[in-house]
Amino acid sequence: MSKILVTGGAGYIGSHTCVELLGAGHEITVFDNLCNSQPEALARVQRIADKSLHFVQGDIRDRVALLQALRTSGATAVIHFAGLKAVGDSVKDPLSYYDNNVVGTACLLSAMAECGVKTLVFSSSATVYGDPQFLPLTEDHRLCATNPYGQTKLVIEGMLQDLYRSDPDWRIGILRYFNPVGAHVSGLIGEDPQGPPNNLLPFVAQVAVGRRAFLSVWGDDYDTPDGTGVRDYIHVVDLAQGHVKALARLQAQAQCLVVNLGTGIGYSVLDMVRAFEQASGKPVPYKVAPRRSGDVASNYADPTLAFEQLGWRAERGLETMCADAWRWQNANPNGYTVVAN
Ligand code: NAD
Ligand code: UFG
Repeated sequence: MSKILVTGGAGYIGSHTCVELLGAGHEITVFDNLCNSQPEALARVQRIADKSLHFVQGDIRDRVALLQALRTSGATAVIHFAGLKAVGDSVKDPLSYYDNNVVGTACLLSAMAECGVKTLVFSSSATVYGDPQFLPLTEDHRLCATNPYGQTKLVIEGMLQDLYRSDPDWRIGILRYFNPVGAHVSGLIGEDPQGPPNNLLPFVAQVAVGRRAFLSVWGDDYDTPDGTGVRDYIHVVDLAQGHVKALARLQAQAQCLVVNLGTGIGYSVLDMVRAFEQASGKPVPYKVAPRRSGDVASNYADPTLAFEQLGWRAERGLETMCADAWRWQNANPNGYTVVAN
C-alpha cells in the first residue's frame, strides 16, 4: 500500500488505472489540468472503487503546484499519464506538444527529484517503433518517430534513461502501450474523445450508437489478410493492471524497465467492425476511403518480456473489449457530458 501521485489520472487510461490502484489498496492523488477530461470521471472512479481519492487541478509545467502536490500527498511514486496524444494536432502544432509533453515531464522529474520521490511509471507508446522492420515488435526493435507526438515520447524515454544512468536510485518503468480500447465493465467510465474520434474503436462505437452515419475505412489495399490495417488492441483494464504490476516490480527493485503492453494478437479494421456489430447488435456501415498518411499496414507486440518481468499478460479478448466499449457508449452516448433534452 503506497501513496501515489497520478498525473493525467482523469483521462481515459488514467481513470481506469485509478480504479485498479484503489482496488489494490493504494492511496492516490490525481494531478490533472482537465484539458482533455472531466471531473465526473473521477467521481465515477470513486463510485466504482467505493473509495475516495484526492484531486488537484494543476498543470505539470507548474513546478510550484507539483511540489505542493507531491509534499501534501506524501507520494512515494508517480504514475505519469499527463500529455497530449493526437498525432494530427502534433503535426500542426508541434511546439505545444514539445512544451506539454517534454517540458512538462522535465518539470515533473525535477520536482520529484527535489522531493526525493524517485519511482516513476511512464506512458510511452508503440509509436516509438515507427514503421515496423519485423513483427511481432520486441523492445529491442530500433526506435524511430514518424510524427512530433512520437518524437516527444522518444525524447522522454531518452531523458528517463539518462536520468537513471546519472542516478541508479531511480526506479523507472517505461510502458509502451499498443492500442488501448474498451471500458470498465461497469459501463461508468470509458473513452470520451472531444470532437470526432481519431481512433478506430471510439469512432465505430459512435457509428453503432447513431452519433455518426458511417465509418471511413482508411485503405483496403495493405499487405494484410483482408487489406485493412492490423493493430494490437488491448483492453484498457488489462493495461491498467499492467501499471499496478509495474509499480510493484519497481518497488521491489531499483531499475529502468522498458516493456511492451499488448496482447500479441493483430486484428484488422474489418475484424473490429464485425466484432463490434456482434457485441452491440447494431450495424456499423462503412465506406472504404484512401489510406491515412503515416499509417502502417500491421503493428503488434511481442508481450513476452512483460510476462517475464511483471508476471503480467492481457486476459481480455476481442469480444470483451467490444462488449465493454459498447456498454459504456450505449449508457453514455455523449460521454461524460449530460445533454439537456
Ligand atoms: P487522455 O487525453 O484521455 O488523458 C490524458 C490526461 O492528461 C487528461 O486527463 C488531460 O487533461 C491530462 N493532461 C494533459 N496535459 C496535461 C498537463 N500539462 N498537466 C496536467 N494534466 C494534463 O489520454 P489517454 O488515452 O488516457 O493517454 C494517457 C497517456 O498514455 C498519454 O501520455 C498518451 O500519450 C499515452 N498513450 C495513449 C495511447 C492511446 O491510444 N490512448 C497510446 C499510447 C500511449
Ligand atoms: N482507422 C480507420 N478509420 C478510422 C480510424 C482508424 O480505418 O476512422 C484504421 C487506421 O487506418 C488503422 C486502424 O484503424 O489501420 C487503427 O487506427 P487508430 O487511429 O485507432 O490507431 P493507430 O494504430 O493509428 O494509433 C494509435 C494511437 C497512437 C499510438 C498508436 C500506438 O492513436 O497515438 O496507436 O500503436 F501511438
